[in-house]
Amino acid sequence: MITSDRKKIIPEFVTETEIMKKLLQEVEILAPTDATVLIMGETGVGKDVIATMIHRISKRSNKPFMRMNCAELNEGVIESELFGHERGAFTGAVTRKRGRLEIADKGTLFLDEVGDIPLSTQKKLLRVLEQQEFERVGGTETIKIDVRVIAATNRSLALLVNHNEFRRDLFYRLNTIIIKLPPLRDRKKDIIPISEHFLREFSHNGSTIKMTKKIKDMLLSYTWPGNVRELRSTIERIVIYSRNGGINTEKLFRNCDLIEEVDATFSIESPSLTLEDVEKSLLLKVLENAMWNIQHSARVLKISRTTLYEKIKRYKLESFKQGSKSPYPKA
Ligand SMILES: Nc1ncnc2c1ncn2[C@@H]1O[C@H](COP(=O)(O)OP(=O)(O)OP(=O)(O)O)[C@@H](O)[C@H]1O
Ligand SMILES: [Mg+2]
Repeated sequence: MITSDRKKIIPEFVTETEIMKKLLQEVEILAPTDATVLIMGETGVGKDVIATMIHRISKRSNKPFMRMNCAELNEGVIESELFGHERGAFTGAVTRKRGRLEIADKGTLFLDEVGDIPLSTQKKLLRVLEQQEFERVGGTETIKIDVRVIAATNRSLALLVNHNEFRRDLFYRLNTIIIKLPPLRDRKKDIIPISEHFLREFSHNGSTIKMTKKIKDMLLSYTWPGNVRELRSTIERIVIYSRNGGINTEKLFRNCDLIEEVDATFSIESPSLTLEDVEKSLLLKVLENAMWNIQHSARVLKISRTTLYEKIKRYKLESFKQGSKSPYPKA
C-alpha cells in the first residue's frame, strides 16, 4: 500500500474502482523490479501519472527520470535525442551531445507515444532493451548503460504491427508487462471522487464548492473522450464560474471540442440526445465529408487513426458507409 510518508513523493492517483485498485497493487509489485513496462490507454487516462509513480516507488527513485515524447520529435532528430551524437555527425553537430539514454543512466527513461518511433530507430531501441548498449549517432564507441524503460502508448501497437508500422520483435519485447488503463467512461465510479479531488485542488482559501446533483448527473452521463484531463479542465471551469456567482450548467461543457463542433445539434435541455449520439453524429459527419478517408478524418478530429478505427467499430459506423445514410438529424 502507498503509506502516508510516501505520499509526498508519489503522485496522487484517485480511484474508487476495484479494477484500478488492483492495478495499483500490480504497480506496487512491479515497480521495484527492473522490468520494462508498457502503459496503454487513451489520452488523458493517467499514463504519465503511473509512469512517474513506478519510477518514484522503484529503487531508482533518486536517479534521473527522463521523459521523451516520440510523437513530438521528427524522424531526423529522434535518434540523436535518444542516443546522442558525436561532433560532426551531421550538419550542425558542432559538439558531442549525450542522448537521453545516457543521461538517464541508473535511472528510468519514459518513452511516451512509443508507437511513433520510426521503424529505422526501433531496431536500435530493441538492442538497448536487450543488451543495454548503443552507439551515439556518428560514433563507433559502444556505450553501456543501466536504464529501466517505461513506454506508453494511446495507439494499439498490435494494430501498428499488422500495418507494418511497428516491429514485431520490439512489440513482443515491450509486451511483457502491460498496464492497461481503462477509459474514464468504463469506470464511472471514479468520476465523482476524481472531480472532488480536482475541486479541492482548484478551490482557494480553503473554500469548498459542493456539486449539485444536476452537475453530478451531467458529469456521470458524459462519455469523457479526453478522460481525466478533460474532467480536470471541466472542474476548473466549474470553479471559475462558481466564483462569479453560481455554476452555469449551459457553460459547463462549453469548451469540450466535441460539443463546440456540433453546437447546432446539441442542447443541454434536450433529453432525447445523449452525448454518445452527439459523438456518433460528429464522427459520421466528418467521415462522410472525407468520403471515409480515415487518415484525413482522424486529422480533422485530432485523434489517431487507431482511435478512429476503434470508435467506428464501437459505434458500428461501417453500416452507414454505403449510401452515406446518417441515422441522426443533420444540423
Ligand atoms: N486517477 C487520477 N487521479 C488524479 N489525477 C489524475 C488521475 N488520472 C489522471 N490524472 C490527472 O489527469 C491529467 C492527465 O493525466 P496524464 O497526463 O497522466 O494522462 P496521459 O494518459 O499521459 O495522457 P496523454 O496520452 O495525452 O499523454 C493529469 O493532470 C493527471 O495528473
Ligand atoms: Mg502522457
